[in-house]
Amino acid sequence: MAWTQVFPDIEHLSLAAAERFIALAGEAIAARGRFTAALAGGSTPRVLYSLLASGTFAGRVDWAHVEVYWGDERCVPPEDSRSNYRLAHETLLARVPVPVDQVHRMRGEAEPAAAAAEYERLLRKRLGDSGDDSPPASGFDLVLLGMGDDGHTASLFPHTPALDEHTRWAIPNWSAETQTWRVTLTTPALNAARQTLFLVSGSTKAERLWQVLEGPRDPHQLPAQLIQPARGAVTWFVDQGAASRLTPASLGEPT
Ligand code: 6PG
Repeated sequence: MAWTQVFPDIEHLSLAAAERFIALAGEAIAARGRFTAALAGGSTPRVLYSLLASGTFAGRVDWAHVEVYWGDERCVPPEDSRSNYRLAHETLLARVPVPVDQVHRMRGEAEPAAAAAEYERLLRKRLGDSGDDSPPASGFDLVLLGMGDDGHTASLFPHTPALDEHTRWAIPNWSAETQTWRVTLTTPALNAARQTLFLVSGSTKAERLWQVLEGPRDPHQLPAQLIQPARGAVTWFVDQGAASRLTPASLGEPT
């Protein structure tokens, strides 16, 4: 089940995303005693993270019961300006009381394959490992994702081997565009999520977003199409610039 909501701009989109984060956190903590959230990288989530750390929102989350993960990371040190951890730390995590042992960053400073294997071990410990090739027994309560101009999500880039990984939960992947190694969650780890929220902003995304949501299924060309949680719901929060090619078929109520 997926549905798309269009907002006038990134600010309205981020306000709605902050409310959704707070609602999902409250539900998860009430039901299971914790809220596991995998954060997105890139630039789009910056406004959301800053809002969540602001006076209006920060007091509405029981941060002591929040566990923070990442959907992907650039293989750079945590203080590097390209680091997804640094983005979240500067805008959110340094400003809210999430216990440090509940912030699970991917070690971008480590050798990519080792960092991915280490993260996989962590996920199997924290999300429930059935001991076989099956996906996490209990996926993330929320996965935040962006979408690149080329239709990638996390660091699942078009026509890369990572797209066909269905056993491991975290792997290294090469980003030809940025000429950097990445660590990324794989389709099974992402699709085990209860709730998935894409945040997409800007007219440069319009053509690709239309292809992903309304075009033919071609996940090797459009990896964002791989995100189809078995049990969970996918919501797209997009601004008018990104939504300019969409037709009513993909807007509004859940399909
Ligand atoms: C990353 C992200 C990546 C991002 C998209 C969109 O590490 O860059 O995980 O998947 O979400 O590329 O990036 P923007 O939000 O900057 O457009």
